[in-house]
Order: sequence, then C-alpha cells, then structure tokens
Amino acid sequence: MIKADVGSVSGHMTVHPKQLEVARQFMEDARQKGTISDYHVTHAGDDIELIMTHAMGENHSAIHELAWKCFKQITAEVSRPLKLYAAGQDMLSEAFSGNIKGMGPGVAELEFAERQSDPVLIFMADKTEPGAWNLPLFKIFADPFNTAGLIIDLGLHDGFIFTVLDVVDNVSVELKCPAEMYDLLALIGTPSKYVIERVLRSDGLPAAAASTTRLSLIAGRYVGKDDPVCIVRAQHGLPAAGEVLEAFAFPHLVAGWMRGSHHGPLMPVSVDDSQNKVSRFDGPPRVVGLGFQVSDGKLIGPTDLFADPAFDRTRQTANLVADYMRLHGPFMPHRLGPEEMEYTTLPQVLEKLKTRFKKT
Ligand code: 13P
Ligand code: 13P
Ligand code: MG
Ligand code: MG
Repeated sequence: MIKADVGSVSGHMTVHPKQLEVARQFMEDARQKGTISDYHVTHAGDDIELIMTHAMGENHSAIHELAWKCFKQITAEVSRPLKLYAAGQDMLSEAFSGNIKGMGPGVAELEFAERQSDPVLIFMADKTEPGAWNLPLFKIFADPFNTAGLIIDLGLHDGFIFTVLDVVDNVSVELKCPAEMYDLLALIGTPSKYVIERVLRSDGLPAAAASTTRLSLIAGRYVGKDDPVCIVRAQHGLPAAGEVLEAFAFPHLVAGWMRGSHHGPLMPVSVDDSQNKVSRFDGPPRVVGLGFQVSDGKLIGPTDLFADPAFDRTRQTANLVADYMRLHGPFMPHRLGPEEMEYTTLPQVLEKLKTRFKKT
C-alpha cells in the first residue's frame, strides 16, 4: 500500500476521477511490464490509494519509485492543470531518492507466503494520523472482548508481537501480548508519539502492517494530515475478518479533522461516493475498508467492508460525538494540545504577541 494526497476537489474533500484514471493506467502499464502482479486503485476522501502485489519484498526501490512517479504524473497531468486544491500536497521532495518513506507518501508493506487461502483486509483513513490505528490494532490482536478467537482458537492462544515505533525519536520496540500488555498500552495510549507499525503472530507469521509517516515531523510544519493505511491478514490462525471489523464498531476519538488540529470520532464508511466525501468541518475523520483474497499474487475482490447497515449505529454515534466535540469550538480537548499545535500556524500567532506579554 502506498498512498498520497496530490490535490483534491472543493478543498480537501475528495479526489478527481481523472486522477484515479491516470493512476489506473499507470498501474496497468506496470502490471503488463511485470513490475507488479496486480493492483487496485481507490481513494479515501482526498487520498489516492495504490494497493499493489508483487514479488520483490518490502522496501524495494523499483516499487517505491513506481508509486512516486505515479503520484508525480497525476500531479502534473491532472492536479496542476485543473488547479485542484493543494496540488502535490504530500510530495515533500523534488527527486526520488531510493525509498519513498520519509518523502511524504504513506507506505504499509507486508511480505508473506500465501496460505492455502489468504483473506487480506486494507484500511485507509482520511483526516487523521497513524496513531489512529493503535486502538483498533490492539483490540484485534490483544483484546479477547473483541476477538473471540484469542480464547476459542488455540492457533491464537500464544498471542501476538507488536512493533511500536516512537515517531518523534525514531526508535522502535517489540512487545509481546498478552505477557507485556500493560507495557504496550502504556505506550500506545499516546498515539501522537507511539505508533503500532507491525504485528506478528507469536510464531513470526506476519499479521499486520501500518504506515507511520507523520508529515509535520518530516516537513517541520503543517502540510496536511498523514491519513494512514493499514494491512491486516485474517482467518485460519489469525483473527476472523469479522473480528477485525468489530474493532471499528467503536468510533474512537482521533487527532486530525479540520486543519489537522482537532480531535474527532473515526467514522467507518463505505468506499461509495456518498460516504467517502469528507465534508463537515473537513470531516469527521473516517476510515474505508476493502477486503480481498490474495490468490497467486492476484487481488480477488474487493468487498466494501463498511457498506453494511450493521455499521449504521457506529456512524450515528460518530455524528453524535462530532456534534458534542464541535460545541467546544476552539477549546481543548476538541482542539489538539500545544505540542501538536507547534506544527500549525499557532507559532506565528505567538510570535505576533511576543512583545505584548508583560512580566507579572
Ligand atoms: P489554506 O490557508 O490554504 O486555506 O489552508 C488551510 C487548510 O488547508 C485547512 O483545511
Ligand atoms: P488532508 O490531510 O486530508 O489533506 O486535510 C488537510 C486539512 O487541513 C483538512 O482541514
Ligand atoms: Mg488534502
Ligand atoms: Mg487526506
């Protein structure tokens, strides 16, 4: 999964169909050349999502360069000529330097040997940060009140290993659940700093991977929210697809929303246009999900994971929480805390007032 926001229609609301057309043509050419085995192009709000399968392993420069060139071409051929909003938003570097990580786009890669049957679920968020996956990933792989299989299926009994990245100091730690559950929670309860990057089953089977890019930490200023993606494998010794989805039935509060500076509920929506245009106060933050079977490197599907009336109540709750949070206006905890506001235009406001502060 490699994704980027390279410009959007009517502010930060949604992508332009021509952008997706260019992306699909680009991916089709790469498939025919044999660089990738298969692909699916979609979007979450204003973010273009390239789902790719290939046999070159993680962090391969040819795959990263392919995605980089694709986003560059969309920017040049569609975003700029149509004067789309924030054209090229997430392309923070001029030239490709071998690895797309740290250059703006979000990346989640998971290398695995295909099982007899391999369901793979892809989650894509808009108007939020990578730490937004902490709570659902914990519930999926460590909370028996969410995932019945942790109790019922002996294949899951030995638990999972979480790799947690400190996105501020760039160090990571592996924590084993259930043994180190309290240590894990002590870290990931601070989603702006500690982000779950990867989950392995206790025997090393790759189970999940998430993007960890924090645009503001790369750019040193606010350029848009990271809008992370996440890959989760399911079934047969892993949480069932329905257990994975159950973790999204609670629309928990995440950072992002308007100007990337507000807490709001993460609302699960279908890929369908009626739910995938991010409007109210540029939000609320949302997640779309697609389900595939990976079969000899081909992507069979997708299913639209949240296009189920069973998630209607979650959406209603999210909208209720959105009303409640909005009533706080510019006050915390709706608005993010000062350490996060450092990367917005708040420092300029402080600079302007600097000389007017008097000693008391
Ligand atoms: P502008 O100042 O360009 O409107 O950017 C603000 C923004 O994008 C927040 O939605
Ligand atoms: P995106 O990160 O989705 O571009 O949103 C930016 C923003 O400022 C929304 O208000
Ligand atoms: Mg945008
Ligand atoms: Mg976005």
